[in-house]
Amino acid sequence: MRVLGIETSCDETGLGIYDTNQGLMAHALFSQVKIHQQYGGVVPELASRDHVRRILPLVKKIMIESDSKARDISGIAYTAGPGLIGALLVGAAVGSSLAMSWDIPSVGVHHMEGHLLAPMLEEEPPDFPFLALLVSGGHTLLVAVQGVGRYQILGESIDDAAGEAFDKTAKMLGLGYPGGPKLAKLAEQGDTTRFRFPRPMTLRPGLDFSFSGLKTFARTTWAKYGADEQTKADIARAFEDAVVDTMAIKCKRAMKQSGLKHLVIAGGVSANHALRVRLQTLVEQEGGRLFCPRLEFCTDNGAMIAYAGWCRMHDEGKKNTAFAVKARWSIESLQPVTS
Ligand code: KG4
Ligand code: ZN
Repeated sequence: MRVLGIETSCDETGLGIYDTNQGLMAHALFSQVKIHQQYGGVVPELASRDHVRRILPLVKKIMIESDSKARDISGIAYTAGPGLIGALLVGAAVGSSLAMSWDIPSVGVHHMEGHLLAPMLEEEPPDFPFLALLVSGGHTLLVAVQGVGRYQILGESIDDAAGEAFDKTAKMLGLGYPGGPKLAKLAEQGDTTRFRFPRPMTLRPGLDFSFSGLKTFARTTWAKYGADEQTKADIARAFEDAVVDTMAIKCKRAMKQSGLKHLVIAGGVSANHALRVRLQTLVEQEGGRLFCPRLEFCTDNGAMIAYAGWCRMHDEGKKNTAFAVKARWSIESLQPVTS
């Protein structure tokens, strides 16, 4: 079975082709960063319009790269949510239309399941069960994973998602959009001993997160000490240290609580170097292993959607006759994959 995957949930048009025998055969991405940069964040209407412009040339590109003809594709997977409705509709409409004209099944994929399964595309994929920390621009989830579609949310953010906190703090420091990677780069120059930010919700039991206070803490620190570049870097460092430390504390707690030793991290923030290093040390201490996607598959991409769709095609492909997209959609509501 060969599945074409389409990702258009936010500001990246991603395509991928995953094949049962050959694995990932091709993938392509167009990032809309330049379009949204001047507005300091994603403008949904502009995102949808650009997906319309990019999607078919990218389909063509990966079909050529993987040496696939239409008859070689046996299913289409598109991101059906959560995400920006107008953006999702572009991928869903194109995916469903291609499936109809090629007379093949299609499935709507949950974006966060795509992220969660992205490490399966690596050479040494994790075995089930494992614990997953999913950290993106829209979500922060700690999930006990028993199999594909067998997810229990152990903890989540009660306010800003981790990536959102990175982006808002970066914007406040004048680093522009997208802020996460820029803040992380600046933090490398920061002095880790100058400021200490709180580790939110770590002193009470539980696995939920709260990151919006850190952004406020950064703002008040900047107002009090700001003005020079070194202070900016020191604040970036204190912010990153606090986020990384908080996540490590919660992951350790979740490992103890669930008995799961292996940890998957995925989603845009899992590209963060300090986070990867810190969690690697943690799982080694706990006698487990850390699994992460390669850097380009931490952030949004079509390869993870092709893979997740490939997992679900047998169960859901025939049933998916109309397309529906959802701005909100709990990962816990997904059906377990039976075959
Ligand atoms: O998964 P993703 O590409 O899109 C969503 O599903 O939201 O995640 C994007 C998020 C953004 O908030 C971005 O700032 C953050 O991931 N991000 C990072 C890094 N690279 C991307 N945050 C911290 N450090 C990074 N290196
Ligand atoms: Zn994402």
